[in-house]
Amino acid sequence: MDPQPSQIPQAVDALKRGGLVILPTETVYGLAADAANARAVAAVYAAKGRPSFNPLIAHVAEVATARRIARFDDRAEALAARFWPGPLTLVLPIADERAVCDLARAGLDSVAVRAPAHPLSRALLEAFGGPLVAPSANRSGRPSPTTFADAVEETGASAAAALDGGSCAIGLESTVIALLDEPRLLRPGSVTRAEIEAVIGALSEADADARRSPGRLARHYAPNAPVRLEAEGPKPGEAFLAFGPADARDRTWNLSPTRDLVEAAANLFAHLRAADRSGASAIAVAPIPQEGLGEAINDRLRRAAGFVG
Ligand code: TXA
Ligand code: MG
Repeated sequence: MDPQPSQIPQAVDALKRGGLVILPTETVYGLAADAANARAVAAVYAAKGRPSFNPLIAHVAEVATARRIARFDDRAEALAARFWPGPLTLVLPIADERAVCDLARAGLDSVAVRAPAHPLSRALLEAFGGPLVAPSANRSGRPSPTTFADAVEETGASAAAALDGGSCAIGLESTVIALLDEPRLLRPGSVTRAEIEAVIGALSEADADARRSPGRLARHYAPNAPVRLEAEGPKPGEAFLAFGPADARDRTWNLSPTRDLVEAAANLFAHLRAADRSGASAIAVAPIPQEGLGEAINDRLRRAAGFVG
């Protein structure tokens, strides 16, 4: 297959500018963004129309890159040696929090990594030189696209570039294995349980809760200070996360002065951390409209405020 080398520089350029790229892999088409760029990652969630922030897979060209991002143990080394590049994703403790931003990990202290086998995804990852997050390129609640035409129809309008790699050879998402304590199968895929167990021994069953809510597998970032939602402004001693035009004040961080929800999503975790570190008695947060990415932002804020487990 012709790996369309001519389109790679243009796609790298788009990614460096924070744009999104439709990317073929051997499993399904992905919607790729620079994993370190929270603004670009927020645009991925917006394009998919996800009502909450699911953690994304960081794609790498080489095991060496994955080792810089995540903490590899013997089991991870053995599985990567046997199945990479290929349709296997490993969930491991995060090692470099900047390489894969908080928003891409949905605030977890773990990260999912995979080295895809498709020549075009490999070429793009090598040329880009860092990890790319790439959820399946479908809109939320729809099947994963396995042809270029389907991927473009789903999320093409949000992409700055699109690479046509033909039909996906596998057509089923990667197998996801968590190696945080007991090895667990989080998502069955084309690498079978038997193939995994032949390398690292018996897999524990992930319970339905762990599959629905990966947060149960690892810690979600949660501020120490209490969080007060729908606040018109800070009370004395409180930090404030503003949304929209606001006076610059001590302990005030603005999620988006222009009320741009993509910008607010990109700033959410960093601003929560900064407000938490400020020593404030509580973190007051301005009302965020429940539309577009606002739904996911409010979901995350309600969790931070302790309203959802
Ligand atoms: O085949 C694939 O994996 C495709 C291609 C494009 O690479 N990508 C894909 O991504 O299916 P996505 O975002 O649709 O699915 C990612 C899966 C989700 O089930 C998510 O919950 C899980 O990986 N995941 C990601 N990070 C995780 C983490 N830190 N802990 C637990 N699960 C995680
Ligand atoms: Mg998906």
